[in-house]
Order: sequence, then structure tokens, then C-alpha cells
Amino acid sequence: MKYVLEIENVSKFFNGLVAIDDLTIKVKPGQIYGIIGPNGAGKTTLFNCVTGIYTPEKGKIKYKGEDITGMSADKIAQRGVLRTFQNIRLFHEMSVAENIVAGCHTKSQQKWYHSIIHTPFQKADELKQWKKVEELMKFFNLSQFAETPTKDLPYGAQRKVEMARALAAEPELLILDEPAAGLNENETIELTGMIRKISEMGIGIMMIEHDMEMVMSLTDYITVINFGKEISQGEPSFVQDDPRVIEAYIGSDDEDEDE
Ligand SMILES: Nc1ncnc2c1ncn2[C@@H]1O[C@H](COP(=O)(O)OP(=O)(O)OP(=O)(O)O)[C@@H](O)[C@H]1O
Ligand SMILES: [Mg+2]
Repeated sequence: MKYVLEIENVSKFFNGLVAIDDLTIKVKPGQIYGIIGPNGAGKTTLFNCVTGIYTPEKGKIKYKGEDITGMSADKIAQRGVLRTFQNIRLFHEMSVAENIVAGCHTKSQQKWYHSIIHTPFQKADELKQWKKVEELMKFFNLSQFAETPTKDLPYGAQRKVEMARALAAEPELLILDEPAAGLNENETIELTGMIRKISEMGIGIMMIEHDMEMVMSLTDYITVINFGKEISQGEPSFVQDDPRVIEAYIGSDDEDEDE
């Protein structure tokens, strides 16, 4: 499998206004792919198209070669595309461990009748799940918070719980919408290391991030979006020095689109 995700000429409109304009992006397994651009550029909208929250009006989205364009968000998650949100979404009254267990259910082998008759199959499945949850808590340094309701956690820890929950579903593509937003410098460094390790497991990662230092040091490849359109694509070193990118970030009245 060459690409875990192929976004081909995708466009999305809201009330006739273009939010995503003919984007093509291909993510390889184990690759960390950055999506950057000014506020309102269409980054989250793109992620919403990939995860089935929106259906694009034009173009095609393929996951592991399968066309998932217009498929429901549930089905896309079951296939192995998992995400975190720009504004953290957790079950705030539930503990860290319970939140992560909830993530396992996307992938659970259980049938409805197993939970009624409590088969040995269900017991084995549950045991496996708890082991996975323990491992994930260890990986994210969350073990000491296992029983803590997530609403009582510091913000940085909440971000990690959300990521752990997504990983519990055993994704092959992990989609992160501003994972470092609201984190301090040390937390950002910790998270950067964790994201790198996740990619080393072979999981493709697509992330939106405004922290340029993090993006430039962590990602393998970047697409820069402005007004829904690609303005640059390439390795971090290329994108960083691209005059079109610098112009978009500084903001220019000049609509110079000769290149
Ligand atoms: N459900 C919607 N209905 C109408 N317009 C929308 C909807 N969702 C997003 N938009 C518009 O689409 C454009 C892109 O928004 P989007 O949230 O994708 O930007 P973004 O790049 O994620 O920005 P930020 O960096 O601020 O998160 C904006 O103009 C936004 O107002
Ligand atoms: Mg956004």
C-alpha cells in the first residue's frame, strides 16, 4: 500500500462559497503530514471531509485504496480513520480509563448478544481491552490519572486522553486538529516525541498545527492552504522559504497569482 490516504481534487462549498478548493493530498503509512494556513483557510473543513462529517461536492477521498467519499463518520472511524478535535471532546464526568475504553469500542469484535449472555468471548475481549488501556495510559504518562474524571485534569493531560482514545481504536490514519493548542513549551515537546513514536508504529498522521516550530521539526511533508486553495506543498524546508507562504502569512492586498 503506497498511500494510506488519497485526497483527490476535493472541493467543499458552504452556501455557494468555496471553503475547500480543488485540494489534492496523499499521505503515506508512517508519514507525518502537516496542514497549515491562516485562520479560516479551510483546514478543519478538510479534516471534516476526510472523517465523514461533511461530504465534498467534488473530488474523491480514498482510505487504503477504498473510496470513502460520502461515507458516514461511523463507518470511516470503524475502518481505521480516527481523529482529535480543535476543541477537546471528552466525556468530562468519566475517568481517563473509561474515556479510553470508549475508544476501544470502535474496533470491538463484540456482537450485541455477547453482552447479554456474558460469553467467555466477551470476557477475553474485555481483558484485552483493559490491557490496551493500561498500555496507552503508560505511553501517554497518564497512569496516575486513571480514575480521575477528565474535567479535573490539566488541559495538556486532556489533550493526551483524547489522543489515547483515538489510538485505542487502532487507527491506521490519525488526524490531529491543533494537538499543541493551549499547551506550554514542555508539554509541546513531550507531545512532539509522542507523535513521532506513533508514526514510527506505521500509523499515518495528518495534523493541523499553528505552532510553526513544532510543524517544521516534526512533519515530513506539508500542504499550505489559504482561502481553501493549496498555495504550496513540499518538505518543511521548501515550504518555509516559499515566498507564496510568507506572503499568505504576512497578508497582502496584492492578488499576484502568476506563479
Ligand atoms: N458548517 C459551516 N457552515 C458554513 N461555513 C462554514 C462551516 N464550517 C466552516 N465554515 C467556513 O469555512 C471556512 C473555513 O473554516 P475552517 O474552520 O475550515 O478554517 P480553519 O482553517 O480550520 O481555521 P482555524 O485555523 O481558525 O481553525 C471559514 O470561512 C468558515 O467560516
Ligand atoms: Mg480549524
